[in-house]
Amino acid sequence: MTMTEILQFADQLIFAKKGKHLDDLQESIIKGIWDGKSYQEIAEECNRSESRVRNIAAKLLQLLSEELGENFEKTNFRSTFNRLNISSSQNQNICQNGNHNFNYSPEILYNSKQNNQEQLNNALSKSVYHDLTLAPKIINFYNRESELKALSSLILDNNIRLISVLGLSGIGKTTLVKRFVDLHLEKFEVVIWKSLKYPKPLELLIDDLLNTCEQESKATRDDKLKQLFDILRDKKCLIILDDVHHIFTQGEFSGQYQSVYQDYQNFFKIITETEHQSHLILMSQEQCAEMECLDGELYPIKSLKLSGLEDREILSEMGLKTDQDSGLKLIERYQGNPMYLKDVAVLIRDVFDGNVADFLAEDGLVITKEMQSHFNQLFNRLSPVEQKIVVELSKFEQPVSREELRQHLDLSSIDLINGLQSLQQRYLVSKIKTDPILFNLSLTFKEYLRKLKPL
Ligand SMILES: Nc1ncnc2c1ncn2[C@@H]1O[C@H](COP(=O)(O)OP(=O)(O)OP(=O)(O)O)[C@@H](O)[C@H]1O
Ligand SMILES: [Mg+2]
Repeated sequence: MTMTEILQFADQLIFAKKGKHLDDLQESIIKGIWDGKSYQEIAEECNRSESRVRNIAAKLLQLLSEELGENFEKTNFRSTFNRLNISSSQNQNICQNGNHNFNYSPEILYNSKQNNQEQLNNALSKSVYHDLTLAPKIINFYNRESELKALSSLILDNNIRLISVLGLSGIGKTTLVKRFVDLHLEKFEVVIWKSLKYPKPLELLIDDLLNTCEQESKATRDDKLKQLFDILRDKKCLIILDDVHHIFTQGEFSGQYQSVYQDYQNFFKIITETEHQSHLILMSQEQCAEMECLDGELYPIKSLKLSGLEDREILSEMGLKTDQDSGLKLIERYQGNPMYLKDVAVLIRDVFDGNVADFLAEDGLVITKEMQSHFNQLFNRLSPVEQKIVVELSKFEQPVSREELRQHLDLSSIDLINGLQSLQQRYLVSKIKTDPILFNLSLTFKEYLRKLKPL
C-alpha cells in the first residue's frame, strides 16, 4: 500500500466517523508515522509542539484501532496495515482475501460493531467493481455544496437514473462529479468512470464495462446490452461518462450525434426507460435532447447546469494577493470559471507578482493564450448559423433582443431561433427574461470574438 493510498483510506475513515476530512497536521502525522519518524521530528517538520503532535497521533491511532479491530500503535503501524492486506486503487479501498475483492469501506466498518472476521465475511458476499483509473484526483475543492447536495438528492434519494452535469469547459463538471464519487463510493457496488474524449462505438464501451465487472462479453450487440442491463438491475452501479460532447458533430447545432455514435442515443433512452437500480452520469459542454430535463417531479432525467464559483478562497489557493474588492472583481470578469481563473492566475503571478489590483488596473479583459486556443476550438465547433449570431452579438455592449438580431443578420427566422437555442445549449449565450427577451453572450467569449478577424 502506498502513502497516498494510506492517506486516502484514513481520510475516508475519518470522514465516515467524524464528517470531516484529514487536516494538514493529521496528514503529516500519518506520513511521519508511516515513515518511522519520531514525534519530535514530525513536530519540528510541522512547526508544532511535540505534545500536540503526540496528542493528535494518539487519537488517530485509537480511531484506527477501534474501526479496524486491530491494536494500532506507532511501532506497529506499517506492519498492521500490511497484515490487514488493505489495498486501495484510486479512491476505492479494497481488502483482498484470496481471489476476491471486497469493499472495506469505512462506512461498512463504522456502521458495524461486529468483530473483524464477521465484517470481512459480510463484505465478501458483495463483489465490488470500481474502475476510477481515468478519474482525476481532487486536491482542492471549493464552493459546490449545493450542487453536491443536489447530486446526492437526485441519485441517492430520488433514484434518478440519468443525470447530466452540464456547462462551459472549465466550469468544474469533472471536479464536482469526482468529488461526489469520492464521498459516496462505498454506496455503490460498481463504479466505473469513462471519458469519451477519444470516443469509441457504444459496443466497445459496453465491452469495457462488462470487462470491469469480470464478465465475458457475449457475441452480439443486443446480447451484450442485455448482459449490461442485467448487471444494472442486480447491482447498484454508478457509471460516469465524461466529455460526452465529443460524440456530437462539429459544425452543426449542439447535441447532434455523429452517425458512428448514434447508438448512444438509444442507450441513454433505455437507461431512462427501463427498470433497474443504477445511475448514469453524463458530463458535457453541449446539451442533447436526451439531457433535456422537463420540470415534472417524476420526470426520469435530471440535469445540473453549473455556473461559476463565487468565492474568493479559490484565488488565494492560486497564490494571488487580493482584497475583497479586487478578488470579487476578478471572479466576476472571468465569470467564476475556475479554468479561466487558473490561466489568468499564472499570468498575474508572472507579470504582476500576484497582485490582482494591479492586473485589474490594465485596460480591458485579458484573454490568455490558453483561453484563446480553447475559444478557437469552441468557435470551430459551432454551426455557421451560430458563428454568425455570436459574431453579431459580440458587437453589442448590452444584451440584444431577437428582433434586433434579426435586423442585423441575414438569417431566416427559423435559423435564428434554432441558433439561439443551440448557443444556450452550449452555455455561450444566456437569456434574460425581460420583455422583450434579451440574449447575452459570455463575456470572455465576446472579448475573444472582438479580436477575431471578420468571417
Ligand atoms: N470546486 C472547485 N474547487 C477548486 N477547483 C476547481 C473546482 N472546480 C473546478 N476546479 C478546477 O478548475 C479546473 C477545471 O475544472 P474541470 O476540469 O472540473 O472542468 P470541466 O467543467 O470538467 O471542464 P471540461 O468541460 O473542459 O472537461 C480544474 O483544474 C479544477 O481543478
Ligand atoms: Mg471535464
